[in-house]
Amino acid sequence: MRVTETLKTATILLFAGMITIGVNGCKKKAGCTDPTAVNYDATAKVDDGSCISQADQAYADADGIMGGKLYDKFWATETGWTAPTGINAADISDYGDFYRCKQCHGWDQMGNEGAYNNRAPQVGRPSVGPSLFEPIVNDPKEEFFDHIYNTTGRAVDPTLTQDGTTGSGNIMPAFGNILTEAETWDIIKFLLEERYDVTQLYDLVTTGTYPTGTHTFTNIGLDGSATAGDAFFTANCATCHGADGKGILIVDDGDTLTVGFFGRNKPYELQHKIKFGNLGSAMVGVPTATVSDVKDLFKALQNQTKYPD
Ligand code: HEC
Ligand code: HEC
Repeated sequence: MRVTETLKTATILLFAGMITIGVNGCKKKAGCTDPTAVNYDATAKVDDGSCISQADQAYADADGIMGGKLYDKFWATETGWTAPTGINAADISDYGDFYRCKQCHGWDQMGNEGAYNNRAPQVGRPSVGPSLFEPIVNDPKEEFFDHIYNTTGRAVDPTLTQDGTTGSGNIMPAFGNILTEAETWDIIKFLLEERYDVTQLYDLVTTGTYPTGTHTFTNIGLDGSATAGDAFFTANCATCHGADGKGILIVDDGDTLTVGFFGRNKPYELQHKIKFGNLGSAMVGVPTATVSDVKDLFKALQNQTKYPD
C-alpha cells in the first residue's frame, strides 16, 4: 500500500516536472548553435548537443575500402577510381615508391617497427617511416586529417632527388597537393575501421632496430580453422589461382611465387591484399572478409602439401 502511494506521488511530481520543462523549452528554441557545424541552426538559441562537425560528416561519408586501396597505390588503375590530377605523372611512374603510404608505413602500418624493420632504403625506394598505431589513432579526427593533408612534407616536384640518397626523398609527401580531402578521409576511415590489426592474425617476433632488424612470423592464423580456410579459398580464390594456389604465376621482385608461399612467408602483405585486392590486376579483393576469414585462410595456407611453393 505504502509503496503504491509513493509511486503515485512520484508519478505526479514527474509529470509536473515534464510540463515545466516543456513550457520553458518553447520559449528558447533548441538546436545546433555552432556556426561551423554542418547542421548549424541560426534560429536556435539553446544548444541541444546535436551539432555535427564538418570532420565528423566527412568521416561518415568516407569509404574505408577505397581508403585501403589508396593506402596501397592511389594511382593504380582500379574499377571506379580515377587517379588525382594534382600529381606529376612522370614523377609517379619513375618514383612511385616515394608516394605509396605502404612503402613508408608498411602493409601492417607498423612502419619500421614491423615487417619492414629490415627494409633499408635503396635507389628508387625510400627508407621506412614511423608506425601509424600510436598515438594518432586516438587523436581527434581533425588532427589525424592534418597529419596527412596539411603537412609541410615534400611538394610534388620532379626535380627533387628522390632516389633515397638524400633526406628529401624520404620525408612524408605533401598529400594536400596530391589527394582530395575526401580521399584523405577515405584513408583515415581505412586506418580506423577497415584495416586488420595484424596482432590478431599472427605473432611477430622482432629483434634489433631498423634497418638491420630481423623478424619472424609464428602461429600464422593463430586459432583459425584450416577447414574453414579451405572453404574460403575455394569460394574466393581458386577460380583464378587453382585449387592448389599455383594457377597464376605470381611474379614478385623477379621471383615466381604461389599463394601458399605468400601465406607462409608474407602474411603481412597477403592480409591487405585479401581484402583490398592486388591493385592493377584482376584481383579486386574480398571487402567483406573478416578477421576470422583471414585467420582461417592463413591457417589453411600453412599446409604445404595442399598449397605448395
Ligand atoms: C616517403 C615516405 C612516406 C610516405 C610515402 C608516406 N609517409 Fe607518412 N610519414 C613519413 C614520415 C617520415 C613521417 C614522420 C615525420 C613526418 O611527420 O614527416 C610520417 C608521418 C605520418 C603520419 C603521422 C604519424 C604520427 O605519429 O604523427 C601519418 C598519419 C602518416 N604519415 C600517414 C601517411 C599516409 C596516409 C600516407 C599515404 C597517403 C603516407 N603517410 C605516406 C613518411 C612517409
Ligand atoms: C579474378 C581472379 C583472382 C581472384 C579471385 C584472386 N586473385 Fe589473387 N591474383 C590474381 C592476379 C591476376 C594476380 C597478379 C599476378 C601477377 O601478375 O603477379 C594475383 C595476385 C595474387 C597474389 C600475389 C600478390 C603480389 O604481391 O604479387 C596473391 C598472394 C594472391 N593473388 C592471393 C589471392 C587470394 C588469397 C585470393 C582469394 C582471397 C585471390 N588471390 C583471389 C587474380 C585473382
